[in-house]
Amino acid sequence: RGLTGVIHPSITSLTHLTHLNLSHNSLLGSLPDDLFSSLSSLQVIDLSFNRLIDHLPPPSNKISQLQVLNLSSNFFNGKIPSSILVPSVSIFNVSNNSFSGSIPIDNDSNHTSLTFLDLSYNKLNDTIPPGIGLCSKLQVFRAGFNSLSGSLPDQIFNLADLRQLSLPVNSLTGPINDGIMNLTNLQTLELFSNQFSGPIPSQIGNLSRLENLLLHINNLTGPLPLSLANSTKLSALNLRVNNLTGDLSSFNFSPLQRLTTLDLGNNNFTGELPKSLYSCKSLTAIRLANNQLTGQISPEIVALESLAYFSISTNNLTNAAGAFRILKGCKNLTTLVLSKNFLFEPVPDDESLGDPDGFQSLRVFALGGCQFTGQVPTWLGKLKNLQALDLSFNLITGSLPGWLASLPNLFYIDLSNNLLQGGFPNDLCGMPVLTSKEASDKVDSSHLELPVFVKPKNASDQQYNRLSNLPPAIYLSNNSLNGSIPIEIGRLKFIHVLDLSHNKFSGSIPDQISNLTNLEKLDLSYNNLSGEIPASLKEGLHFLSSFSVAYNDLRGLVPSGGQFDTFTISSFEGNPGLCGPPTVHRTCPQPLSPAAGPRSNSHRKLLTGLIVAIGYCIGFGFGFGFGYKQNFIVI
Ligand SMILES: *[C@@H]1O[C@H](CO)[C@@H](O)[C@H](O)[C@H]1NC(C)=O
Ligand SMILES: *[C@@H]1O[C@H](CO)[C@@H](O)[C@H](O)[C@H]1NC(C)=O
Ligand SMILES: *[C@@H]1O[C@H](CO)[C@@H](O)[C@H](O)[C@H]1NC(C)=O
Ligand SMILES: *[C@@H]1O[C@H](CO)[C@@H](O)[C@H](O)[C@H]1NC(C)=O
Ligand SMILES: *[C@@H]1O[C@H](CO)[C@@H](O)[C@H](O)[C@H]1NC(C)=O
Ligand SMILES: *[C@@H]1O[C@H](CO)[C@@H](O)[C@H](O)[C@H]1NC(C)=O
Ligand SMILES: *[C@@H]1O[C@H](CO)[C@@H](O)[C@H](O)[C@H]1NC(C)=O
Ligand SMILES: *[C@@H]1O[C@H](CO)[C@@H](O)[C@H](O)[C@H]1NC(C)=O
Repeated sequence: RGLTGVIHPSITSLTHLTHLNLSHNSLLGSLPDDLFSSLSSLQVIDLSFNRLIDHLPPPSNKISQLQVLNLSSNFFNGKIPSSILVPSVSIFNVSNNSFSGSIPIDNDSNHTSLTFLDLSYNKLNDTIPPGIGLCSKLQVFRAGFNSLSGSLPDQIFNLADLRQLSLPVNSLTGPINDGIMNLTNLQTLELFSNQFSGPIPSQIGNLSRLENLLLHINNLTGPLPLSLANSTKLSALNLRVNNLTGDLSSFNFSPLQRLTTLDLGNNNFTGELPKSLYSCKSLTAIRLANNQLTGQISPEIVALESLAYFSISTNNLTNAAGAFRILKGCKNLTTLVLSKNFLFEPVPDDESLGDPDGFQSLRVFALGGCQFTGQVPTWLGKLKNLQALDLSFNLITGSLPGWLASLPNLFYIDLSNNLLQGGFPNDLCGMPVLTSKEASDKVDSSHLELPVFVKPKNASDQQYNRLSNLPPAIYLSNNSLNGSIPIEIGRLKFIHVLDLSHNKFSGSIPDQISNLTNLEKLDLSYNNLSGEIPASLKEGLHFLSSFSVAYNDLRGLVPSGGQFDTFTISSFEGNPGLCGPPTVHRTCPQPLSPAAGPRSNSHRKLLTGLIVAIGYCIGFGFGFGFGYKQNFIVI
């Protein structure tokens, strides 16, 4: 109803009130002190989705009729008094607040009516009380995204009606023990992002109603239990980032006909790609990245008609040409991540791969780190839906193709760490998504079926759940590109990252780079650029947080002001001709180099003194040291 303001204390005069529903308003302030003690007839309280704050008022055993209490999505804090959970309550939802302390269940309490208990997204920081086992009617128990610690109490396995056990993103430890098999009604088991250890219970397949098994990001060991094939209702299975082992091809996936997403990535599975997987007709996403799988992609995979996401990066697959010929037949593939396989094979260049019957739905194509030889294959130019292309860390030769700009949706190109030669083609400066607002606005922001990860060389993996969150970027670092940076570069107005480092570019830095007003990272280091750093850069590039022109042949005054005051000497070192802070030559020689021209001469002299003064005051403390030296690879 758009209600605002506080809940007036006079509401407590409505002593016969049974239902109070003020949800989805903009109510502020704290609850009237005697709310619970006065409204003793209340059966239903729903105050969810408001802006209520503060501690809960002292509860009272007078609210003995209460069945539904929903205080979720507010800003309540303090402890949740256990006396508020009177025996009659069946639905209790306080999720998405800032409550701290313990789960409000005493070890001798009698919550035999409680069916839904949702405590997720708070700051609870105790262990899970054994008393939970006395809530014998409990069907849904959610307490994820807190700071709960300790292990799962055995009593939790008494909850025979439990359909959903959701405790992700806590600090829970210990094993998931065999008691879990008592929970025969379980449909969702979500324990991801904890520190559970030990094996997955071998008889977990007895949970025949299981639909979602999400145990990723723990410390689980041992094999994928063979019994899981008996959980034929399974739809989502995510065991990513554990220490699971064993030959994956010995697991029979074929009974799992409802399986839609499978993520077994970042484990230590061995063996060949399990062929039985190809009979799980509902699969839309498979991620087996970062294991030790061997062998080849087999033709049966085309039977997976709904497959949209397939990532098998960082394994030991062979025969890229065969793999591409087969995968081309997966008509609905939008995300294909094959990075770090097929070592030292030629990059498949069969022109028919780009035919109208091949790869036409592809949006992400990641082929980094394969040590592919050959040139950038021209059939890629036919993949009109392509948005992100990663060919980094290969041995690709030839020139940087300007025809990449003919791909109407492409906004992320990584060709870094290859052997490309020749110049930066003017055509590439016309990439539609990077030059036109219309095209840039059209970038699809829907969720990927599973995330892709973009791994900086030396940091933890960065996770992208939507493609539209990838930075619009051109990475060309560490090739042998030469010639000058074309002035047309100024057209790439929507680019966020431009990395031309470790090449042989020469000539001056074009003024037009200052037109790239969305630029966050600009790396021109380790080239043979000469002339001055255009002063215009400091005016246009308001978002620049990472900048380097180190190790070139630049001279003259380093621009100051704007973002330039945040860059340290490391951004400029290796250019003996540069002067002014933060370089080692704190003042420029007088007179300034002739190249500076009469236009800016006096203006600069004036500034120099000023900058030196400021320079001493702020020292070298600023700057974002992270960033531009990272090399990314989509995995
Ligand atoms: C309260 O009202 C909202 C909006 O009409 C409704 O969605 C919600 O189910 C109600 N809450 C209860 C507990 O009935
Ligand atoms: C609790 O409320 C939140 C919204 O604030 C909702 O998303 C969640 O599904 C509810 N929990 C249960 C168990 O119904
Ligand atoms: C994971 O388990 C192994 C032994 O199984 C242990 O050495 C390691 O410390 C554990 N790691 C974490 C993060 O708990
Ligand atoms: C699946 O369940 C059947 C019947 O309960 C049982 O005989 C079989 O051993 C189970 N399969 C696996 C792989 O555990
Ligand atoms: C450039 O690439 C080569 C080959 O991949 C690699 O050995 C070298 O370390 C890279 N250099 C830089 C500066 O990244
Ligand atoms: C990676 O990180 C380690 C520790 O932080 C550091 O010593 C090392 O120099 C880094 N390597 C690179 C290539 O940045
Ligand atoms: C691009 O940059 C040039 C030189 O800095 C400037 O004259 C021009 O107005 C800019 N164009 C646009 C569209 O911003
Ligand atoms: C760098 O550029 C200059 C011209 O500006 C040229 O004379 C020199 O040979 C180049 N050096 C390298 C290593 O390419």
